[in-house]
Amino acid sequence: MPSSLTEICGYEELTLLDAMMKRNDFSGYTAYVAKDGERVVGIAVIQDGYYPAFTKIWCLEVAKDYQNRGIGRNIVESVLREHPAIKLVAKRDAFGFYQKMGFTFEGEPHPKSNVCYMVRVLH
Ligand SMILES: CC(C)(COP(=O)(O)OP(=O)(O)OC[C@H]1O[C@@H](n2cnc3c(N)ncnc32)[C@H](O)[C@@H]1OP(=O)(O)O)[C@@H](O)C(=O)NCCC(=O)NCCS
Repeated sequence: MPSSLTEICGYEELTLLDAMMKRNDFSGYTAYVAKDGERVVGIAVIQDGYYPAFTKIWCLEVAKDYQNRGIGRNIVESVLREHPAIKLVAKRDAFGFYQKMGFTFEGEPHPKSNVCYMVRVLH
């Protein structure tokens, strides 16, 4: 399991999740979950309609001891099969992963910023 929500989510995501939990309203969000037996080893939370023409991936996390086994790729490909246009805010550490998944930067990453919008559209 991810060790904490703050590792998965940035401030914007945490604020949103907090508001959703207070309202007990998760409608419009979908979770893609990878499991090993009963254990959740990977998760992505997505939302349609946040951006006009894209599905947003709010967070994607694979448990540390399950990374580099293709789980992140599997989750992203599963999302893409059902949502062919995706936009997300990528952390610098994950730029290389998303580039491998075919994502491109929307604009150029600012050298002093640790995040950048990335998009992928299936044709
Ligand atoms: C980023 C993350 C989701 C990748 O998941 P994963 O299951 O480890 O990735 P996969 O095994 O599916 O990797 C797919 C490919 O991307 C590569 N890759 C994985 N992580 C990478 C990274 N951080 N940088 C560059 N390449 C990476 C793999 O080597 C693999 O390449 P290959 O197809 O040539 O073999 C995972 O490392 C993670 O949860 N990180 C912490 C949270 C995070 O950063 N989430 C993204 C926030 S925007």
